[in-house]
Amino acid sequence: MALIYIEQVEDMNVEEMQKTHENEIKILNAIDNLAISYDRREATLEELEKKIDEYVKHVHVHFANEERLMKEYDFPSYDMHKTAHDMFLEELQHAIKYWKRYEDITKITNFVRRTPEWIVLHVNTVDLPTSNYLAKKMNQK
Ligand SMILES: [Fe+2]
Ligand SMILES: [Fe+2]
Repeated sequence: MALIYIEQVEDMNVEEMQKTHENEIKILNAIDNLAISYDRREATLEELEKKIDEYVKHVHVHFANEERLMKEYDFPSYDMHKTAHDMFLEELQHAIKYWKRYEDITKITNFVRRTPEWIVLHVNTVDLPTSNYLAKKMNQK
């Protein structure tokens, strides 16, 4: 069983947003699988940490790209959407801090395993109306 399935999130009308969501879901599932393998001593800590680093970078690029598009097309609810991203990044930063401070990988893997709920809700209620607006504006260009 995967941590999160692409079918749980709505399809975006903006291709780059859709691709980003698909990639992020793949990375999340890879972290979950690597964490399981690590517990069974079938994967190394380095392999797991590398995937987590990839995830952290991916989240930042994901949010920054949506924010860039919203600005470019004057999305009226930019502030609301940006605040939602910032709040998530703060929680992510918090989990990273505890992971490093206690040298305990479970601080971040447990965080990652709790994220699907947020992602599904965010994509379906915040990204969806944003992508519908953006797609309309892009077609007017
Ligand atoms: Fe998104
Ligand atoms: Fe978003």
